[in-house]
Formats: sequence, C-alpha cells, structure tokens
Amino acid sequence: MSAILVTGAAGLLGRFVVSDLLAHGHNVRGLDRRQGDSDIEWHVGDVTSPELVQRAMAGVDAVLHIAAIPNIWSGDGQTIMRVNLLGTYTVFDAAEAAGVNRVVFCSSDSVAGYTVREGRMLPPRYAPLDLDHPLLATDPYAISKVLGEDMARAYALRGMSVIALRTVFVAYPEMASEIVARAEDPAAYRGPMVGGPSSAGGGPLYHHIDARDLARAFRLAFELKLEPGVFEQFYLSAQVTLSPEPTLDRLRRLHGDAVEIRDPGVYAAQPFAPLYDLTHAADRLGFVAEYDQRHLLAGLPAFS
Ligand SMILES: NC(=O)c1ccc[n+]([C@@H]2O[C@H](COP(=O)([O-])OP(=O)(O)OC[C@H]3O[C@@H](n4cnc5c(N)ncnc54)[C@H](O)[C@@H]3O)[C@@H](O)[C@H]2O)c1
Repeated sequence: MSAILVTGAAGLLGRFVVSDLLAHGHNVRGLDRRQGDSDIEWHVGDVTSPELVQRAMAGVDAVLHIAAIPNIWSGDGQTIMRVNLLGTYTVFDAAEAAGVNRVVFCSSDSVAGYTVREGRMLPPRYAPLDLDHPLLATDPYAISKVLGEDMARAYALRGMSVIALRTVFVAYPEMASEIVARAEDPAAYRGPMVGGPSSAGGGPLYHHIDARDLARAFRLAFELKLEPGVFEQFYLSAQVTLSPEPTLDRLRRLHGDAVEIRDPGVYAAQPFAPLYDLTHAADRLGFVAEYDQRHLLAGLPAFS
C-alpha cells in the first residue's frame, strides 16, 4: 500500500482516479479547491498555495497532479496560466522539498496542437503521431500543458522520476448527451447544448478515452518502475474515435495530402484508429484501453 496525493481529486477525472486507487488498496489524499465526495483525507484550497500543498504532501510516496483549468472554455488565458503553470510549479517544488520522487503529471494531447478548432490549428505532420512529432500548441491551455511538461522534465533532471500522460478528451458519463448531440448533427453542434459540463471534444478526429481506462493509466504510471532522473510521456486514447468517418478519410477530407501516413497498416486493421500512436503506451506502460463509447452512436444516421 502506498500513500498517494491526488490533486484535482474532486474533479471529473479525479474521482475516477481516487476510486481506482482505493479499490487497489492505496491510501489516498485529495487536494482540490472544493471537497469531493470520497471518504479520504481532504486538503481544500488553491493548488498555487505553497503552504497548502506542502501540508498535503507530507509523508506521501507519490503525487498524481491532475488539478488544472481543463480547457480554454473554463477560464481566460490569465487564469489558465496562473492555475496550470503556478499550480504545477508549486506541486513539483513541494514534492521535491518533501522527498517525493514520483510525480505523474496530467498532460493532454493538445500539446501536439490538434485539438481546438478556434484560433490557429495546424494539421499534424504525420500519422500515427508519436512522441517524435513536434509540439504545435497554439492556444493558452495547450501552451500551459507544454510548459507543464517542461517543468516536469526539469524536475526529472534534478532527480525525480516523472511521467506525463497526454490524454485525449475524456468521455465522462456526463458527456454522453453532448457526444450524441454532436453525432446527430456535427455541422450544427455548438456545445455544450444539452446539459453536459462542456462541449463534446476530441479535436477534428473526435478522439476520446473512457475515464475508467484513464484512471487505470494513472495507476500504471504510478506503478511503473523508473530510474531516478527519468521523464517519460505517453499518448493515451481509446482504440477508436467517435467520428462517423474512418480516420484516413477524415484526414484527407480536412487536409488533402498534407498528413503523411507513415503506417497505413494501423488504419487498415482499425479504420477508426486514433491519430496517436498507441504502441508506446502498450509496450512500455502496459496500457491498452478496454472501453470506448462508439456504442452511444449506434443507429444514428451518420453511423449506420
Ligand atoms: N476533460 C478532458 O477531456 C481532458 C483532456 C485532456 C486532459 N485533461 C486534464 O485532465 C485533468 C482533469 O480535468 P477534468 O476533466 O477532471 O476537469 P475538472 O474541471 O472536473 O477537474 C479539475 C479539478 O481541478 C480543480 N482545480 C481547478 N483549479 C484549482 C485550483 N486553483 N486549486 C485547486 N484545485 C483546482 C477543480 O476544482 C477540479 O476539481 C486536467 O489536468 C485537465 O487539463 C482533461
């Protein structure tokens, strides 16, 4: 059993991560600006407060840093930078001071730059997009995750072992109605339209991951054997997108021949495979998503 601090523990993802850790016998502490429902030790306040974070950190074996402004619709650029950058710095700084050597940082596939339609979004250079692909972030949220990863790497250089999980859009149960609304009329969809906490996301290819899978990935990242001083990143996604069109058809329609298809075999085997290379997470982290939400779309005109 390990003692683990989860920041953002009261949030949509945090509660799945907390439940998964508790189910696997760990001792969990939560830090969030509001107290969540789980029966764990809570540290309530702002993740940018050094005193609060230091108190929460005392005696833990690892930190899963999930607290953040989770998209460009949930805060302006100033707020995103304050919470996501200063919060991440505060967590790493307190972890190092407390001798906590393992941090898992919740990053995002937005670092690759292919998630938000508004603003300037560049097409990917190639598919499957892997860790060698340049980071083409252009919006404040994506920039905050690129810089958060830079901090993560810096703390690894100083001796910690750190993992960044670049997850795609999380299809929480609360998002089901938005996902269906978008699938019914993608051109007209302006979310959130039908009561979900945010828009159906996932970028132009409608990527998604199930929160149960993502929670498991956090646990696998925490358990992964790593030497001190090592920083690793992983793209995480369900094995299929939520798009009505096969991935290569959609990329071709949106970008012509601009996206080099490096491994057509991936898309021959699974036409709805995501843009991202999932072999690294499978081989190194032992993570292959078990769930997907395409069943929500069965019977809709564009999907029959
Ligand atoms: N939702 C997605 O599709 C998605 C995709 C990729 C990455 N992420 C990342 O996943 C993580 C969790 O996001 P989520 O979907 O659960 O969103 P969420 O808003 O439900 O969770 C974020 C949590 O952080 C807390 N928080 C925000 N500001 C804080 C502050 N100043 N001090 C303390 N706590 C604060 C919130 O109260 C909330 O509980 C975030 O790091 C987000 O960037 C989310």
